[in-house]
Amino acid sequence: MISVVFVCLGNICRSPMAEAVFKDLVEKEGLADQFRIDSAGTSRYHIGEPAHRGTRRVLADHGIRSDSIARQVSASDLAHADYLVAMDHSNVTEMRYMARGAELDGRLLLLLDFAENTRLQDVPDPYYTGNFEEVFRLVESGCRGLLAHIRAEKGI
Ligand code: 4NP
Repeated sequence: MISVVFVCLGNICRSPMAEAVFKDLVEKEGLADQFRIDSAGTSRYHIGEPAHRGTRRVLADHGIRSDSIARQVSASDLAHADYLVAMDHSNVTEMRYMARGAELDGRLLLLLDFAENTRLQDVPDPYYTGNFEEVFRLVESGCRGLLAHIRAEKGI
């Protein structure tokens, strides 16, 4: 199984959206049995909460299911995930700190490095901007590019 964990700050807006979009793409490409896909937050702020209503609404508008419950990034994620996919640079910094010097490079990626339709590197946080549709477009493009990257890297 290829494990992919999408990571943001609160695990209620951006990373649950990326998790749901990536799962949808993987299912449509007939690869669901080869992936374990999850999301987590670097903070403890919203542990146990469902995704933000803006994330749930934009996913529903695009016909994508989502049922995530917020949790914090775990030591197991950092040690074992094949791909740790950050929504922004602060998530990268925080995961490096949480890993206490353990090797993450190569497994630690920025989602928008795989997006074709933007020069942004950080997914804007809709918790502050309120613009969930903009975030959806960025996340979808990033997820498409990420899946192509993983398929090439793993030869699937
Ligand atoms: P997320 O957005 O990292 O995309 O889930 C946020 C959610 C909550 C907070 C910040 C960002 N917060 O400060 O509570």
